[in-house]
Amino acid sequence: MSPNPLILSPSLLAADFGDFAGAVRRCAEAGIDWYHFDVMDGHFVPNLTFGAGVVRALRPVAADACFDVHLMVTNPDAHVAGFVDAGANAITIHVEAAVHLQRTLSTIRAAGCLAGVALNPATGLEPLAYVWDDIDLVLVMTVNPGFGGQAFLPSAARKVAELDALRRERGLSFRISVDGGVDPRTAPGLVADGADVLVAGTALMGHPAGPGAGLAALRESVVSR
Ligand code: DX5
Ligand code: ZN
Repeated sequence: MSPNPLILSPSLLAADFGDFAGAVRRCAEAGIDWYHFDVMDGHFVPNLTFGAGVVRALRPVAADACFDVHLMVTNPDAHVAGFVDAGANAITIHVEAAVHLQRTLSTIRAAGCLAGVALNPATGLEPLAYVWDDIDLVLVMTVNPGFGGQAFLPSAARKVAELDALRRERGLSFRISVDGGVDPRTAPGLVADGADVLVAGTALMGHPAGPGAGLAALRESVVSR
């Protein structure tokens, strides 16, 4: 179990790309205040989404919400400043893409954002061994990044409990976020293992009855938190 309050965060990847503002408004009405922006460059991952302009355009739609930017790009250093300027509150970079990981994390923090590190399913915790003090959030990918609606990988989810144990041993307070295939079936185990942030595209933003219904179902599944 985590020491932090649980956050349920919809991914805009599952929204109608022609109406991001409407999607955020519907989420805000349902009480959502943490949004996940999946930025894909067509190189680090085999898909393209959007850039900092979308973050900037949506900033006034949910002025007080946390905008959490998941950078699935080959060269995160080239993009951090643009997302900070656009109004991001948290920026997560992939450890597989970062060349100077500590520098990039400290740059994100110095800009006033939460500094996050994402781990692909095949990546262990080893690359983080010397940067724990620079991390505010670890994003455990439970699918290979690039697409929404993929099957949850239980083997990757084992890192959640490992991170929670490590966090306790070292007296750290970074958030553990999980991204990919999160739904009412997979969420309870993740929360029991120590997840603080559940990112969901299909199950939240893409719920057929709207994000409010998705939020209610996901919340119900983890009601003990
Ligand atoms: C995948 C993205 C996820 C995606 C999750 O590369 O990082 O945030 O939106 O989608 P679902 O919840 O449908 O697996
Ligand atoms: Zn994501």
